[in-house]
Amino acid sequence: FKVPHPVNEPVKGYAPGSPERASLAAKVKEMAAQKIEIPLVIGGKEIRTGKLAKAVMPHDHGHVLADVHLGGEAEVKLAVEAAAKAKAEWAAMPWEARVSIFLKAADLLAGPYRDVLNAATMLGQSKTCHQAEIDSACELVDFYRFNSFYYEQILREQPESMPGMWNRLEHRPLEGFVFAVTPFNFTSIAGNLPTAPALVGNTVVWKPASTALYSAHFLMKLWKEAGLPDGVINMVPGSGASIGNPVLASPQLAGIHFTGSTSVFNGMWRTVGQNLESYKGYPRLVGETGGKDFIVAHPSADPVALTVAIVRGAFEYQGQKCSAASRAYVPSNLWPKVKEMLVPMVEGIKMGDIQDFSNFMGAVIDANSFRDQKNAIDEAKASNDASILVGGQYDDSKGYFVRPTVIQAKTPGYRTMCDELFGPVMTLHVYDETKWEETLDLVDSTSPYALTGAVFAQDRYAVQQAITHLRNCAGNFYVNDKPTGAVVGQQPFGGARASGTNDKAGSMLNLLRWISARTIKETF
Ligand code: ALA
Repeated sequence: FKVPHPVNEPVKGYAPGSPERASLAAKVKEMAAQKIEIPLVIGGKEIRTGKLAKAVMPHDHGHVLADVHLGGEAEVKLAVEAAAKAKAEWAAMPWEARVSIFLKAADLLAGPYRDVLNAATMLGQSKTCHQAEIDSACELVDFYRFNSFYYEQILREQPESMPGMWNRLEHRPLEGFVFAVTPFNFTSIAGNLPTAPALVGNTVVWKPASTALYSAHFLMKLWKEAGLPDGVINMVPGSGASIGNPVLASPQLAGIHFTGSTSVFNGMWRTVGQNLESYKGYPRLVGETGGKDFIVAHPSADPVALTVAIVRGAFEYQGQKCSAASRAYVPSNLWPKVKEMLVPMVEGIKMGDIQDFSNFMGAVIDANSFRDQKNAIDEAKASNDASILVGGQYDDSKGYFVRPTVIQAKTPGYRTMCDELFGPVMTLHVYDETKWEETLDLVDSTSPYALTGAVFAQDRYAVQQAITHLRNCAGNFYVNDKPTGAVVGQQPFGGARASGTNDKAGSMLNLLRWISARTIKETF
């Protein structure tokens, strides 16, 4: 193989007194002090529409980080044209030339861009330094290195030939452009969704989440510095409808690489279906959508490991990972011990401004999320079917702060055991320890989603039962570990059912979706 075998980027510790901590803290301070202007980037040109939105810090929403220019139909048209213009040359490049750009992006990100992207993610998305490091530094570096490595493996996949002929596969990109729609919760996903199709020769129109435009701006800078030619990725921020509608109406649409809500993705499928005859081919629709990720514990589970997994799985990054544990099933025999540990552990969580590196949690992303969490908490306070075990406080006077909250549901079908909340409010149900198998049925039937899930058990038979019984309930299934924190190259990530098309991010399975192979038989 020509592409170096990747190893996962080591996670830096940012220990108090360490040089890396001093350097990141200084970058955070410097960036927080400068308000910037963020243009669209189309065909390599910066475009200022004058239609402005503000990028604010979720933990201090009066603090504006940037004025962001928003696009609409006219800019989508320009972006589609720029993507078409850049396509021929980009697709015709030797594959090594494309790979080298992303390997360089990985090196830049592991080196001089690390602080910039981490600081942007901390300030704009309210991630703690550790959560930023594992996302915008390590995971994104890993995406670039592993995708490059997998791409070469795909190219090596060739058919047999006989004397007198030469059969081969040409791994072409799709015909047209790919539309990348990215979420706020992982800068690495924002950095991967446009680039995975680009790596294999596609050009892209990219709509970043309205709540993560600050880090998106620095991703564009990273790619440019790595040598990405103009027009390969065109960044067009704007509202979902004002960007999405004209993009989906374009006859050149060849694929969608999406992470976001199930309802938005469903809407895209419908629109694509309605427009089908206008496209040249069948657009490839790849999406990671909602989740209601679970932890289910068997009566044999280790209560300490279980409690730590609930806390970390539910509250790291304020419960805003698509993989976050948002419902848990605890057997009655373990409950007294788990409760005794869980309540003080959650009460002790330190929350606040991300510039204080000792905080474990920041704020939720925006006013809409704050409202959803607040409603769920108020509902539980008023309900006969549920109570607040710990937490339940919220305050949006300065930032969108919601204390980590555990709702205890008497009935396993209680609303927040089923509905996605995407925040630091998790719901837990204590089940009769004799009802393990019925509880596995409940895990399966309670939610339409199947993104991540975890089983805790020391009994091997119970582990096997859960693996078998919950086969379709999670695309990423964890045994005796929290359901978050998938590592590229180690736990390919993605879910099925209402959680998406399960085209594992950072794997060959994903890259293949952006390739349309041609079989060539040459006869001598
Ligand atoms: N890779 C992220 C996680 O597993 C989504 O938490």
